Amino acid sequence: MEDIAIVGIGCTPVGEPWDKSLRSIAVESTWNAMDDAGVDQVDGLVVGNMSSGNFIDQESLGPLIVDYAGLGNITAFKVEGACGSGGAALHAGAMAVASGYHDTVCVTGVEKMTDVVGDSATKILSNASDREYEAIHGVSFPGLNAMIMRRYMHDYNVKREDICSFPVNSHKHAVKNKYAMFRREISLDSVLNSPMVADPMTLMDCAPICDGAASLILTTKEKAHEYTDTPIYIKANSVKTDTIGVHDRKTVTSMRATVEAAREAFSISGLSPKDIETAEMHDAFSIMGVIGLEDIGFVERGQGAKFAADGQIAIGGSLPCCTHGGLKARGHPVGATGVYQVVELCRNLRGEGVIDVSNGLAQNIGGTGSTVAVTILGRD
Ligand code: COA
Repeated sequence: MEDIAIVGIGCTPVGEPWDKSLRSIAVESTWNAMDDAGVDQVDGLVVGNMSSGNFIDQESLGPLIVDYAGLGNITAFKVEGACGSGGAALHAGAMAVASGYHDTVCVTGVEKMTDVVGDSATKILSNASDREYEAIHGVSFPGLNAMIMRRYMHDYNVKREDICSFPVNSHKHAVKNKYAMFRREISLDSVLNSPMVADPMTLMDCAPICDGAASLILTTKEKAHEYTDTPIYIKANSVKTDTIGVHDRKTVTSMRATVEAAREAFSISGLSPKDIETAEMHDAFSIMGVIGLEDIGFVERGQGAKFAADGQIAIGGSLPCCTHGGLKARGHPVGATGVYQVVELCRNLRGEGVIDVSNGLAQNIGGTGSTVAVTILGRD
């Protein structure tokens, strides 16, 4: 695959902006990225969104955002892959540029989750699980992840407290991110002692329900320097799938879609796990971050929690993870998350972030691993 260049980035602060609509945050983010690239028009817009029809009773996001952003009659449509919608939308945008179909494409991930009450949000999110075998019995995503966590602790003889380091790390990194929802540190004790959500998982193991939008402007490698002195290149962007129901998998402590997406992304980029300098892991629940490290091949099976507890995922560690707060503390506006991760990697690779690195990887999970996007970025 020819490298595709990211020449513009933008996002809105993650939180609960009740005074703003989905369209207003999507347009704000799209314009921010276009300003960053120095363009006033793009050829196409791909929207990453999980469930606007349920959260705010609004579909047709492609034309909606294009219309309110004043972009005329361009190509525009929505891509859905549950919480992996952002990574999947990037895939569609990159393919449109790689094929020569469009010169410039904007990828905007957006979700407005807080206009419904918490119970409704939990129900809407559970539509991304297997409704007939999981959600219909009342199992929510926190419930599914709690079961995965318990099984993981059993299989690898890992203690509950060993899995607390992921959210502590993400909260610490969010402090400096002005776009993050929770800009405060938390302790290991507060993870253990915060309210129980689904045993053994507490509130501080869970990403919040929130709103946000993030955008990227893509173009070809040849044209990249017409827009910016610091293009960031998509070395690989792989999207793989697995059974939608967790019960249909041979193991629940590994996500096949992550394994396959990572394998393809490393093969296309020519890199290996040991070459990666930073990773935006999909830490929607602490256990997801831990298992992701193992599935990608950063650590051996059963070693993810120890790796985090040893400080290796901290800034200054061997693989800084979630450097802008991750899903746990930056926030997880589901359809936008995969795009936020890439925006944050771009900041680091451009030298505008919190660490200076020449490459980085983002893992974006939909459902409990039914859709997974793995993206690897590099710079000149
Ligand atoms: N982390 C830290 N603090 C959180 C939080 C989180 N995940 N979620 C809520 N809070 C805080 C709120 O800011 C609020 O604080 P305040 O009282 O100081 O204002 C307090 O906790 C209560 O918030 P509330 O909105 O009533 O929480 P809730 O009980 O309705 O929801 C969860 C908490 C964990 C159930 C909810 O955030 C959740 O479902 N998260 C998972 C979302 C998910 O499944 N995403 C898809 C992943 S695949």
